[in-house]
Amino acid sequence: MKLSLLTLSSVVGFAVADFHPKLLRRGSPYSNEADILQFSNVGYDGFYYPVSKIEAVNASACSCSLDVDNPIKFSGPISPLDEELSVHLRGPVNLRKFAWYTTSSYSYKDTTGNWNRGAYFDAETGETSNVTFLGNVGTDNLCLGRALDYTDETGLEIANSSTVLGNVTIPSSEEITIMSGVECEGDSCGVYRSDSKAYHGFYGVNKMFLFEFAAPSDLSEETLKNKTDGYDMTAIWLLNAQIPRTAQYPTNSDCSSWGSGSGEFDIFEIVNDTERTHFYSTIHDFQGIEYISEGIQNYAYLERTPESVMKGGVIFGEDGTATVFLSNSTTFDDSIANTDINSWLDALSGSTHDETLLSISVTPASSTAVSSIHSAKSNAAAGAAGDSILGHFTTIFYIILGLLYV
Ligand SMILES: *[C@@H]1O[C@H](CO)[C@@H](O)[C@H](O)[C@H]1NC(C)=O
Ligand SMILES: *[C@@H]1O[C@H](CO)[C@@H](O)[C@H](O)[C@H]1NC(C)=O
Ligand SMILES: *[C@@H]1O[C@H](CO)[C@@H](O)[C@H](O)[C@H]1NC(C)=O
Ligand SMILES: *[C@@H]1O[C@H](CO)[C@@H](O)[C@H](O)[C@H]1NC(C)=O
Ligand SMILES: *[C@@H]1O[C@H](CO)[C@@H](O)[C@H](O)[C@H]1NC(C)=O
Ligand SMILES: *[C@@H]1O[C@H](CO)[C@@H](O)[C@H](O)[C@H]1NC(C)=O
Ligand SMILES: *[C@@H]1O[C@H](CO)[C@@H](O)[C@H](O)[C@H]1NC(C)=O
Repeated sequence: MKLSLLTLSSVVGFAVADFHPKLLRRGSPYSNEADILQFSNVGYDGFYYPVSKIEAVNASACSCSLDVDNPIKFSGPISPLDEELSVHLRGPVNLRKFAWYTTSSYSYKDTTGNWNRGAYFDAETGETSNVTFLGNVGTDNLCLGRALDYTDETGLEIANSSTVLGNVTIPSSEEITIMSGVECEGDSCGVYRSDSKAYHGFYGVNKMFLFEFAAPSDLSEETLKNKTDGYDMTAIWLLNAQIPRTAQYPTNSDCSSWGSGSGEFDIFEIVNDTERTHFYSTIHDFQGIEYISEGIQNYAYLERTPESVMKGGVIFGEDGTATVFLSNSTTFDDSIANTDINSWLDALSGSTHDETLLSISVTPASSTAVSSIHSAKSNAAAGAAGDSILGHFTTIFYIILGLLYV
């Protein structure tokens, strides 16, 4: 998803600028380095279409449906990213530590309360709790891609059972997925690919993901010669956990809820090889934008230091904030006090870049209108084409929004 969309983003970039009221006010949007990338007012009244059928017909064909008659409606702070999320990493990356925390209530800069660790991984001691390492390494299908399955300690090969990732550097272009240790049972995860390993993601409105990782430069002769997509482009991101359980990179957009806005949050992402030391953060849903592949971008970046280990992550709070940071003060204890988090953030807050999302409400169109959009989407060869059709659909509400912004 992420790679093929790079090209698409540049194609639709101008169209989005036309519609995005924020972009119209800006000059050179990417010039600033910051220490905190902050999103505010995250969460809206919206909906997406879940996958209701996914099937590999044979090695080259698949059959999928989106449930357009029963859209999943969401609302409230952080939505739809308040749903269970999966964690994804793209090389070059050496993951040293990972942790997921929740708390009962959090607002940016709270100084009371604590966070509890619900999942943990430490590559150097091999300690793990409540994590499953997966990758697109299972059964192959030209339409769905490879099924999500267990990876071995290298993160690259299929394993027969859940295996702890080693202290390894995942190479350029390769990806790994982290889910919780809780396997899907009954209807608890919605529809998923039957030939894959299905696990729950990480829940919570008030949730925090922390990482300690190295992102060493990949300047090997061979990689330079090959210059593949994703060359030396480290990324760490979150998806609505339904997306990898159906298909992360399908050629048929009906095999994923992503195109209709079930949600993606890019925490640290190198977006192209001319900005190899800049980590950008982007939300991919329909909260005030027309094209989901463009996403809602925070127009500043954090510095990637290829020679040194980095620590940091993202904190989501019920005040609608999502705070992305890198700080050597980050700790991974089983309980973390807000006084500590606040002191990490205070030391950085001289350089915060805030991106406030628009307050919007989108309701599903009547089922006849939706069906016609849906059949048009089915004719689209790829997810990218489906994206622009959905984009067209949201244009209508943008015109209304445009009037409000005059
Ligand atoms: C796979 O299934 C599709 C759709 O039913 C069919 O058109 C195609 O011929 C099949 N391919 C093979 C190799 O069986
Ligand atoms: C983990 O891997 C890094 C990079 O190869 C290495 O510098 C470090 O010493 C390793 N740590 C352990 C405990 O093996
Ligand atoms: C996985 O299991 C199969 C069958 O039991 C066995 O032949 C194979 O060696 C195992 N692979 C690994 C990596 O353990
Ligand atoms: C493991 O993570 C899942 C995440 O969805 C959570 O439901 C479960 O309670 C966690 N287990 C423990 C022991 O924390
Ligand atoms: C470079 O390309 C060759 C030929 O396609 C391939 O065998 C090799 O694994 C590639 N190397 C890297 C580092 O991607
Ligand atoms: C790389 O990404 C940045 C940030 O999105 C953008 O400003 C720049 O134009 C891109 N460069 C290329 C060559 O695409
Ligand atoms: C963070 O710590 C590493 C050593 O682990 C050091 O090389 C790096 O310069 C530090 N980064 C900052 C921003 O202080």
